[in-house]
Amino acid sequence: MSLQKEILTPKYPHLLHGGDYNPEQWLDKPEILKRDIELMKKAKINCVSLGIFAWSKLEPSKDDFHLDWMEEIINNLYSAGIYVDLATPSGARPRWIAKENCEVLRVDERGKRAHFGGRHNHCMSSPYYRDRVAKIDMVLAKRFSDHPGVIMWHISNEFEGECHCDLCQQAFRRYLRDKYTTIGNLNRAWWTTFWSHDYSGFEEIESPKDSGENTVNGLTLDWKRFVTNQTVDFMNNEINTVKKYAPNIPVTTNMMGLSDVLCYPRLAQKLDFVSWDSYPNWHEPGQNTYEGALTSFTHDYMRCLKNRPFILMESTTSTVNWRPVCKIKKPGMHRLSMLDAIGHGSQSAMYFQIRQSLGGPEKFHSAVISHLDSDDTRVFKEVASLGEELESVSDIIYGTYNYSEVAIIYDKESKWALDGSSGPRNESLDYDRTCVSFYEYFWQHGINVDVIDSSASLDEYKLVIAPMLYMYHNGIEERIRKFVQRGGYVVSTAFSGYVNETDLCFSGNDADRKLSDVFGICIEEIDALYDEESNLTTFEGKEYPLHTLCEIVKCVDAKALSVYEKDFYKGFPVITVNKYGDGTAYHIASYSDQGLYDALFNRICDEAGIYGVLGNTRIPPGIGIVSRRDKNRIIVFAGNYTDERQIMHLCRNSVSPGRKAIYYINGDIAECDMYFDPFEMKMIMVK
Ligand code: GLA
Ligand code: ZN
Repeated sequence: MSLQKEILTPKYPHLLHGGDYNPEQWLDKPEILKRDIELMKKAKINCVSLGIFAWSKLEPSKDDFHLDWMEEIINNLYSAGIYVDLATPSGARPRWIAKENCEVLRVDERGKRAHFGGRHNHCMSSPYYRDRVAKIDMVLAKRFSDHPGVIMWHISNEFEGECHCDLCQQAFRRYLRDKYTTIGNLNRAWWTTFWSHDYSGFEEIESPKDSGENTVNGLTLDWKRFVTNQTVDFMNNEINTVKKYAPNIPVTTNMMGLSDVLCYPRLAQKLDFVSWDSYPNWHEPGQNTYEGALTSFTHDYMRCLKNRPFILMESTTSTVNWRPVCKIKKPGMHRLSMLDAIGHGSQSAMYFQIRQSLGGPEKFHSAVISHLDSDDTRVFKEVASLGEELESVSDIIYGTYNYSEVAIIYDKESKWALDGSSGPRNESLDYDRTCVSFYEYFWQHGINVDVIDSSASLDEYKLVIAPMLYMYHNGIEERIRKFVQRGGYVVSTAFSGYVNETDLCFSGNDADRKLSDVFGICIEEIDALYDEESNLTTFEGKEYPLHTLCEIVKCVDAKALSVYEKDFYKGFPVITVNKYGDGTAYHIASYSDQGLYDALFNRICDEAGIYGVLGNTRIPPGIGIVSRRDKNRIIVFAGNYTDERQIMHLCRNSVSPGRKAIYYINGDIAECDMYFDPFEMKMIMVK
């Protein structure tokens, strides 16, 4: 199947508006199901995810399939112009499956098998579970593959978690045998001789556990890789089944953004497109702008997994029920966050869920239709008005794409290794926050960013930033070297390039792999600072504080642009720059605040010829910007994440050299002064 990159759902190539629809809760109430469709029409809903948790109603007992109710619902939806994202129900199993064979239930790290309950908690290795899943998937695919209303598959739900049963232990050992061939290789790769932890055969290996082997970093890392592997294998079985009977329906699964449970780049490989569930923590006092940047960063990561648009599969119309404090969305925030997702490449705005449950764990989670069953609520009206707006802009937005000259490397395996290792600072070495702090400059300057895994190609970029990339693997060091040789700009930061793929430190003989020559420096020591400590540096005439980590660096070929001003390493470089091949490599030996990053990236973007989409417009703090384009226009999404009114004076010069910009809002040429209400999102067309 060849899909044009921006067209995710060829049967219905439009922006999708809708969400999880769980009508199996009301099969005995046909009047509710009828009313659902009426209200969905009013809310301009055109797509629902169906059957995610409906297994017990689809197969109430073994091989006793009841699909008529679902067919009737799909038909009714289709007659109302509502398309279906059909789920495989493997995320939650009916009770009879666990009763028939307890191997489906997970075993925890202490060897204790779970009782039936909850969801997302089956053993991915269980042949019995895989069989049952293949069977229900086949039955669904056979029945619905030709239905004109079914436009995509929702494979399972939020894959996550691990199982320590015997089947999983055996599969783990097979995985390691394939990878290392001999136990000697494994012992060397995992450095097991330290503390006498050598293995004498693969059969001795057990999954890592707090109450057992938890100090072999290579083991912990390979276990996480194995868990991803096993999940991918499970998911691929499901994909193979549905593709066999329904080859023309694209498949996706809903991911969880920056969640550490799985390595998503591996999951993405077999999917037609990525989808994800976004639940930002809006309105925590003082946190909104950071939350906006974090969410935008995550959208960019999700988009880049397949380098094509994605589906925002779930979000909430207002509040969730599962945070310590569950805030409702203030007026405007719903539109802002949905359009922001679309700006970053989403082809949808979808929610959990359409109708609010009356009972169960999620009865207080917002929905499109609340317990009041009314279209006259603030939330319903905001949803409906967004639906109307999406309908009116779908044609303009749908075929556009995100174009970025800047990439930030965000690498999950490196993060696992970083978190699993001890030293130099074992608290608050927050990899996600560190990456987002570098992202914020670009987000607030109208410069698009791709957030990429370390396995991705760097060829298309002018600037690549690799914040705290502790582990060099996937050949990233070779790609960085070539990228710089050919004229690229690279920025690396403290505690990057210390270890290889099994968490073994590079030694003096590995200068190549550490890219010492590319950066032109030798890193000799690394100091950690307490929260209340700081160092200081002056860059381009201004002072900036330094925190968290301070590497003591010697310049070999590089030039120091700023130095430490305190402690015994006063005078040692903080920011260095090195010419390598046709390119330039910067290193920042410590961490600072936005002020220093702004100054540094102003300089680098100038040198590299990278321009914001609003030219020299000064963008007020708290306004985040992203853009999509096609050959005729650029659509800029500018959102005010603060609860104050902001004013932005549009500058018509130098969107790029020699170009003048004309800005349009709703077809009219935009005024020079643009006012943003709290949480307002403006879509600005640039020609
Ligand atoms: C997840 C799940 C949904 C629902 C929501 C609630 O994203 O996929 O089934 O539980 O959370 O926020
Ligand atoms: Zn298991």
